[in-house]
Amino acid sequence: MASNKTHWPFAALLVMLMCVAASSSASETESLLKFKNNLSNSTALNNWDASTLPCTGDNPNWVGVLCSNGSLRGLQLENISLAGQIDMDSLAELPNLRTISFMNNSFEGAIPEINKLGALKSLYLSYNRFGGDIPDDAFKGMKALKKVYLAKNEFTGKIPKSLAGLPKISELSLEGNQFEGRIPNFRSKDLQVVNLEGNDLEGPIPDSLSNMSESIFDGNKGLCGKPLPVLCPPSKKKLSVLAIVLIVIGVGVVALVAIGVALFISRGRRNKTSKFGRQSLAAKGHKKGTAEVPSPDHHYKKNENGKVYFVRNDRERFELQDLLRASAEILGSGSFGSSYKAVLFSGPAMVVKRYRHMSNVGKEEFHEHMRRLGKFSHPNLLPLVAFYYRKEEKLLISDFIENGSLASHLHGKRGPGQPGLDWPTRLRIIKGVAKGLAYLYRIFPNQTLPHGHLKSSNVLLDHTFEPLLTDYALVPVINKDHAQQFMVAYKSPEFTQYDRTTKKTDVWSLGILILEMLTGKFPANYLKQGKGANSDLAAWVNSVVREEWTGEVFDKDMGGTKNGAGEMLKLLKIGMCCCEWNSDRRWDLSEAVEKIEELNEKDSDIEDYSSYLSEGDMYSSRPISEDDFSFSVNK
Ligand SMILES: *[C@@H]1O[C@H](CO)[C@@H](O)[C@H](O)[C@H]1NC(C)=O
Ligand SMILES: *[C@@H]1O[C@H](CO)[C@@H](O)[C@H](O)[C@H]1NC(C)=O
Ligand SMILES: *[C@@H]1O[C@H](CO)[C@@H](O)[C@H](O)[C@H]1NC(C)=O
Ligand SMILES: *[C@@H]1O[C@H](CO)[C@@H](O)[C@H](O)[C@H]1NC(C)=O
Ligand SMILES: *[C@@H]1O[C@H](CO)[C@@H](O)[C@H](O)[C@H]1NC(C)=O
Ligand SMILES: *[C@@H]1O[C@H](CO)[C@@H](O)[C@H](O)[C@H]1NC(C)=O
Repeated sequence: MASNKTHWPFAALLVMLMCVAASSSASETESLLKFKNNLSNSTALNNWDASTLPCTGDNPNWVGVLCSNGSLRGLQLENISLAGQIDMDSLAELPNLRTISFMNNSFEGAIPEINKLGALKSLYLSYNRFGGDIPDDAFKGMKALKKVYLAKNEFTGKIPKSLAGLPKISELSLEGNQFEGRIPNFRSKDLQVVNLEGNDLEGPIPDSLSNMSESIFDGNKGLCGKPLPVLCPPSKKKLSVLAIVLIVIGVGVVALVAIGVALFISRGRRNKTSKFGRQSLAAKGHKKGTAEVPSPDHHYKKNENGKVYFVRNDRERFELQDLLRASAEILGSGSFGSSYKAVLFSGPAMVVKRYRHMSNVGKEEFHEHMRRLGKFSHPNLLPLVAFYYRKEEKLLISDFIENGSLASHLHGKRGPGQPGLDWPTRLRIIKGVAKGLAYLYRIFPNQTLPHGHLKSSNVLLDHTFEPLLTDYALVPVINKDHAQQFMVAYKSPEFTQYDRTTKKTDVWSLGILILEMLTGKFPANYLKQGKGANSDLAAWVNSVVREEWTGEVFDKDMGGTKNGAGEMLKLLKIGMCCCEWNSDRRWDLSEAVEKIEELNEKDSDIEDYSSYLSEGDMYSSRPISEDDFSFSVNK
């Protein structure tokens, strides 16, 4: 007991001493003196010596040190003509060092190896004569770094990738160096203060800086894009794709020569952009912005090649020339021709789809049909924006839809961790498809095939996975023989058997689409041409029915069938009713749409269906039977 009593006050005293007299350890002194040793002209640091500790509590005893709780937190060695070597290894021995400033001294040579200070938060090296290229990995691993000031040095080369990759950087000052090349895209969401003035940077300004003030880019002669009023010139490699395509479709020899000249000039200019400066480029851009718009009154009478006709008023206008100069990429090629994504200078991405089998219809008729398409809009139809007419080929231009086609989501390769479309999303998509289809039926009451080509690759998904139908209402302008070879409607039973299509033919395509979405199986026979494909499709549908009996019909990617199994089965039934072989007995569109509308994400009676689905044998209790559909393949 007695020994315990003597121990307590001593321990308390010890703790007290630690708190009151918290001061730099001897090792901090040692490290700082080592660091000083490598400096030349360190006369300003004359009170740095081992007789005092650098810090006592929050108070510095040495010049240029910042202290916190008895430990060295920062170095602020500014305006004192320091030179020599910055010994990073010594600084790396200081565990609490978070900020260093050597601003306005006489340091020269390569940037010190900053990433040896992994926990550093602020770095100030401005107003020295540091120079040369900064290695790409100079800032690698510096997760805490928030402020980087390198202004008014002699740095050259590219802005290092590791700097752009800093996760937390909020202040970046690089002005007054000779940085060149493109500005990398910055990863940090916290960027607040940025200054890149007076370098030799060029190329497009990345998105991460497009919100900054214009002035931070002053004095760089080759930059373009937002926030500058300078449109970016097209990239050389991509440029050629669309240009070549359009050249191939024969814009004409004259146009060809003109394009060649334009290319030649623009290439020449691009090489010289740094000398041209921003103003001349801006002027060039403005000219482009004022593409002539034909007024609706007379442009259908004008007989002129090379004109893009807009069927909507709410879109930015451009001309064929702009398309030619846009950077383009091939999206794919379908049965009608290829599609290209073209990114215009002014920003929007458009899809240009090329059709080669529309030559049987006269020009007036074609224009008329396009104009009609332009009049309508519905949230589930991809609007036609513009078209380009030549006798042999047509280009239809619409918006670019971010998320690609339903087909690519159902059947495309997914990256690891990327989930498939879940049931609620699929249900939403099929409801949207039904609405879009119903709208087409309303606006084209006199057409037998208001859509004509409904399939999963013609259902695009926007960023919220809302579906947009495309390639619709083209039957009146597509050459008949080609349509009958390739379009989905002509693979229907009624066409293969009786050479006719009916108002219920699109319903059949809808049914196939529903089955495809539920099973995740691609109706590969769509790819076959002509009539032979038809019996295979029937076999495909039949295989779905067979699997329905075994309960393995649903695509595993839809996720748990727990809460929606009953509703999925209802949709399966709807799909089958739409695929009814005999078109007289097939549902009409309004009935299908009505039934689809009634579906819910979750079963009203969850338990019922989940236990039901978990049973392997579905014969006994399944709600639908073969007889319900009179599903006869060999009829
Ligand atoms: C100050 O340092 C002492 C030890 O050196 C430590 O026990 C204490 O928690 C520190 N206080 C603060 C506020 O960091
Ligand atoms: C260095 O000089 C600048 C400009 O005169 C001044 O703003 C800054 O506070 C000075 N730094 C120190 C540590 O005195
Ligand atoms: C640099 O330091 C000098 C004194 O050494 C001072 O006169 C000058 O204003 C400083 N310049 C900057 C930009 O801080
Ligand atoms: C050395 O530093 C002192 C004070 O910081 C300065 O006055 C002097 O000009 C410097 N000498 C050289 C050669 O840079
Ligand atoms: C610092 O000085 C020591 C001894 O003078 C030398 O061995 C070391 O290489 C120097 N460090 C740097 C970074 O120049
Ligand atoms: C730019 O600013 C707008 C509005 O101030 C904001 O909505 C947008 O998210 C910002 N973009 C970036 C990349 O910071």
